[in-house]
Amino acid sequence: MRFGHFDDNQREYVINRPDTPLPWINYLGCEAYFGLISNTAGGYSFYRDARLRRLTRYRYNHAPFDLGGRYLYLRDNDTGEFWSPSWQPTRTRLDKYECRHGMGYTIIGSSCKQIEARTCYFVPLGETLEIWRCSLTNRRKKPAKLSVFSSIEFCLWDAHDDATNFQRNFSTGQVEVVDGVIYHKTEYRERRNHFAFFACSEKLAGFDTQRDTFLGVYHGWDNPAAVERGKSFNSIAYGWAPHGSHHVKVNLEPGETKEILFVLGYHENPVDKKFDPPDSQTINKKSVKPVIARYLNSKNVDAAFQKLRNYWSDLLGIYQVQSPDIHANRMVNVWNAYQCMATFNMSRSASFYESGIGRGLGFRDSNQDLLGFVHMVPGRARERILDLAATQLKSGGAFHQYQPLTRRGNNDVGSNFNDDPHWLILGVAAYLRETGDWSILDEPVQFENESGSEQPLYEHLRRSFNYTLERLGPHGLPLIGRADWNDCLNLNCFSDTPGQAFQTTTHKDGKIAESVFIAGLFVLAGKELAAMALKRKLKAEAERYLAEVAKMETVILKHGWDGAWFVRAYDDFGKPIGSKVCQEGKIFIESQGICIMAGIGLNDGKARRTLESVNKHLATKHGIVLQQPAYSKYYLHLGEISSYPPGYKENAGIFCHNNPWIIIAETMVGNGNRAFDYYTRINPSAREDIGEVHRCEPYVFAQMIAGKDAPTHGEAKNSWLTGTAAWTYFTVTQWILGVRTEFDGLRVDPVIPARWKGFTVTRRFRGNTYIIEVQNPKGKQRGVKRLLVDGKEVAGNLLPVRPPRSGPIRVEAVLEG
Ligand code: GLC
Ligand code: GLC
Repeated sequence: MRFGHFDDNQREYVINRPDTPLPWINYLGCEAYFGLISNTAGGYSFYRDARLRRLTRYRYNHAPFDLGGRYLYLRDNDTGEFWSPSWQPTRTRLDKYECRHGMGYTIIGSSCKQIEARTCYFVPLGETLEIWRCSLTNRRKKPAKLSVFSSIEFCLWDAHDDATNFQRNFSTGQVEVVDGVIYHKTEYRERRNHFAFFACSEKLAGFDTQRDTFLGVYHGWDNPAAVERGKSFNSIAYGWAPHGSHHVKVNLEPGETKEILFVLGYHENPVDKKFDPPDSQTINKKSVKPVIARYLNSKNVDAAFQKLRNYWSDLLGIYQVQSPDIHANRMVNVWNAYQCMATFNMSRSASFYESGIGRGLGFRDSNQDLLGFVHMVPGRARERILDLAATQLKSGGAFHQYQPLTRRGNNDVGSNFNDDPHWLILGVAAYLRETGDWSILDEPVQFENESGSEQPLYEHLRRSFNYTLERLGPHGLPLIGRADWNDCLNLNCFSDTPGQAFQTTTHKDGKIAESVFIAGLFVLAGKELAAMALKRKLKAEAERYLAEVAKMETVILKHGWDGAWFVRAYDDFGKPIGSKVCQEGKIFIESQGICIMAGIGLNDGKARRTLESVNKHLATKHGIVLQQPAYSKYYLHLGEISSYPPGYKENAGIFCHNNPWIIIAETMVGNGNRAFDYYTRINPSAREDIGEVHRCEPYVFAQMIAGKDAPTHGEAKNSWLTGTAAWTYFTVTQWILGVRTEFDGLRVDPVIPARWKGFTVTRRFRGNTYIIEVQNPKGKQRGVKRLLVDGKEVAGNLLPVRPPRSGPIRVEAVLEG
């Protein structure tokens, strides 16, 4: 069952009923000011940090799920009837409803009682504000006398404090209302030099800034007292819950349309210019007034919107494909790339499943996210890499997370997730492949954010590699530490006390439990590092890396091979996990994917053997589950993984994040049919028809789809902020379509379904545009045998880097494999 459709030309997803199974959201903003917005206008906004600079209040885990947001109320002043043009929060029946989520904007349109409303929400580039552009049309045969009420609830900045510290909060709120602009200035009197403003283009009939006056005691969002009676109270908040509501009266002749602009924003003043006059408590509005004026003008709003559209066309234009598969096309061309930018901006902080007050930027997560956006914002990827590296410990280990505002490692979580350092090598490699900017390796970067500790980035990578060599276990495999990629495989925790954090409570000394996954990752990263060393003409060093990698491969084959697949780990008793000898958790996905990606088993049949086992034991029609059999009970020595009911999350859920590893492995053995099939199983667009099962947005990947052990098999959860975004994007663009960045150029090596007759990729890369047309006349799955560049046949399938030229470079590739 569908709840909408893709408008591929507009790059929009169009939702045509408001009661989607879960809120289907979008993000506004791509620089410093951000908002989350649902299909019924729910959500909130913040400046840079979702916890520390939250502009508007939102309550998570609400019933209904999504309540609170950027609401408008329309009221017919003749009859007193009122409704929400975005359906929520009044949930009045609408005659028409349509929500268009686009690239950085959302448009919600509806019709009720023959009044049409259309509101476009977006954040202009270069600004720290959002615009709500609302137009109202009277479709009645007679004039309509309407009232419009806006409504947002201000958050008292620190979202955690806002949700907990009421004894103080109820007494701090302050506002000003001047010239129809509502200013929220809680704590401005003391240490904050920022405030929020909420402005409206029309003359006001009234306003409210105290929530409970606006709503009325014992009223909810569905019947605010001000709206009910058709008149604001002109309340001025002093403590309690500062609110922003404008009241505008609009009279419309039959057929007439009027536009109202609302602007909600964030503004900072220099500390010595906070007040005007200086010895007063009044906000100095000199620098904010021109900003407000600019966006209360519809011409400027038009221009800003067009600029935003162009920005996205340009970013998305870097990689475009025309293939026979519409689902792949729209994910690659639009939505998956867009989701990768959301993971870049948000990391794992603010979604409808991440409260914005929890996790900082993950070291491992952020490095992997790079794979998905490095081609779009290479400059910002560079900054991100240097920030991440600066939180690396001198030992080569890493703070597992850091806070974006301070860019410092997060002490509460600490380090000892022993896979972390290798992701830095892979992140840097992805950056180098894309940009060829080798200067980054010479960039001095601190360790542990300590000034004076600067070393070239390259030295950081060396330490990442050595970190594992200095932490080998009884079998010669890497010690796992608190966890590896699988945060929930906690082999040193042994927690029997409720409330302990599985990842930061350690009851074992960590000298026994080992990870085959990290071993595979070490091989993969080690090969990358060796290639970098060679580029730097450090031959002996490269050889040492390769020798260590070879040694590790031997260990993996000896202790990490289970006969038909790779073992997952060894526990604190030295017993295997993910082996046929186990009762439960006999086979895991992670070690299969990573070992094959590292090249292990490609020459001796083990890779193919492994992939057959994955297909047999782990693949379901909704995706590949994390392990089987699921853990039916809690195992003290395994940790959080066994805390989840079977079929959810790391306990045999379809953890979409690692499905691409198997897909890449399938491409590496040349199995294009199966690679694409697996890709399609988790591709949200391909799941659009089963919206009632999948339930999450059909335009972005989810972290998890319930596995076959769950009664809700096929149901997605935790959409948007997940490593799945980067990994699926990377996999389909670079391994299936096979237009792959390398240090010295673009490799053209597609591994596709045999039924595809061909496809075309346009790729901007290092100053040139390549139009690559792949033909598959013989129904092969892989094997470029002929490559023509500008009509001339060249040897091999690498397009070497060339000086930029103005016209596109035309490439034809023929699969004859
Ligand atoms: C979440 C975490 C990621 C981890 C994965 C598996 O996606 O953000 O770091 O690798 O779960 O546990
Ligand atoms: C929880 C989640 C896991 C995530 C981790 C991050 O354990 O289940 O997916 O990676 O938190 O801290």
